[in-house]
Amino acid sequence: MSANTLSAATPAHRGASHLRGAALVGCGSAVPATSLSNSDLSARVETSDDWIRSRTGIGARRVAGPGETITTLAAEAARAALAHAGWEAQELDLILLATSSPDDLFGTAPRVQAAIGASRAVAFDLTAACSGFLFALITAAQYLRNGSFTKVLVIGADQLSRWLDWDDRRTCVLFGDGAGAVALEACEADEDGLVAFRMRSDGSRNACLTLAQTEHHRPLVGDTSAQIGGFATIHMNGQEVYKFAVREVPAVLAELLASTGLEASALDWLLLHQANQRILDAVADRFAVPHERVLSNLAHYGNTSAATIPLMLDEAVRDGRIQSGHLIASSGFGAGLSWGGALLRWRGPQAS
Ligand code: ACO
Repeated sequence: MSANTLSAATPAHRGASHLRGAALVGCGSAVPATSLSNSDLSARVETSDDWIRSRTGIGARRVAGPGETITTLAAEAARAALAHAGWEAQELDLILLATSSPDDLFGTAPRVQAAIGASRAVAFDLTAACSGFLFALITAAQYLRNGSFTKVLVIGADQLSRWLDWDDRRTCVLFGDGAGAVALEACEADEDGLVAFRMRSDGSRNACLTLAQTEHHRPLVGDTSAQIGGFATIHMNGQEVYKFAVREVPAVLAELLASTGLEASALDWLLLHQANQRILDAVADRFAVPHERVLSNLAHYGNTSAATIPLMLDEAVRDGRIQSGHLIASSGFGAGLSWGGALLRWRGPQAS
């Protein structure tokens, strides 16, 4: 049986059967070199630094240039996470890439696997927009909990600049490109870093936020035609998504706290999907979490979709804010509509 053959009854690694937890032991991130400020954008669309900052908290965003792709950004973030965890690429069993803007619709994770030389790892994509990283983290943790795998890399990467209408001021000011990665390792159940989680979807509200296939057909033979592949730009009903976020994110976090018997005062950090500073503030106020415990890098990167949570995590680990043993409440939310939450215990090395 190969190391990647899934079998709950036959753990891939000798001795792994007693391990029933997933420890978060390393992180890394990467962003494109080019930064576009709000003022830069106001030269293209009718907007202003004041409007964007006051409505969203965003001051700038990174935009991928020539040679920068989901593969290159994800691989850079992955290498940084491997180094942080002290792992070699060949030790990896699984690479799970959360992205909604792949380089290849057939899957971009195998390209990342090849780029970093993780020849033993199975690699595949998971799509859930801005909830993608959290969904991928929760999914990957299950393989560790059931003894199938021992070392896993979860990556969130998006390049939504590819899919924006750069003449639509309602959306083009919000998004940016980036990637973040987290290393997860099998551990004893009582050290599980995934303390609790919830995942939700509501497809009946899908039209609120889409990056949808366009309806073009090409005649083939007689009455038969075939659809031509291609996608529209991002469409969002901002007010509806805003209302959804400030209702559902506190609800899912309240459920998590209730299920664990923990009080919000036990949280070291609130690490939410970075979409809008007003959403972060509203959720913090709901739980009376002091604003200095709310992680935000919106000012520098905007909404990087599946990348926001690991990008922010990496920044706060490396500057020493997040320390080993800290309890983090995280929530991802966005297109689908999809949303979820997790209580996470960080176990990575201290910042040097
Ligand atoms: N510059 C200047 N004016 C603008 C801009 C802009 N960039 N964008 C919109 N406006 C105008 C609008 O045209 C409108 O003008 P009008 O009243 O003359 O028509 C006015 O500003 C107000 O527009 P609203 O859409 O009502 O602005 P709002 O206060 O709702 O803020 C925003 C918009 C920032 C998008 C907000 O609704 C929001 O953050 N929504 C949530 C987004 C989100 O959380 N997404 C997460 C998921 S992303 C994913 O899954 C990929």
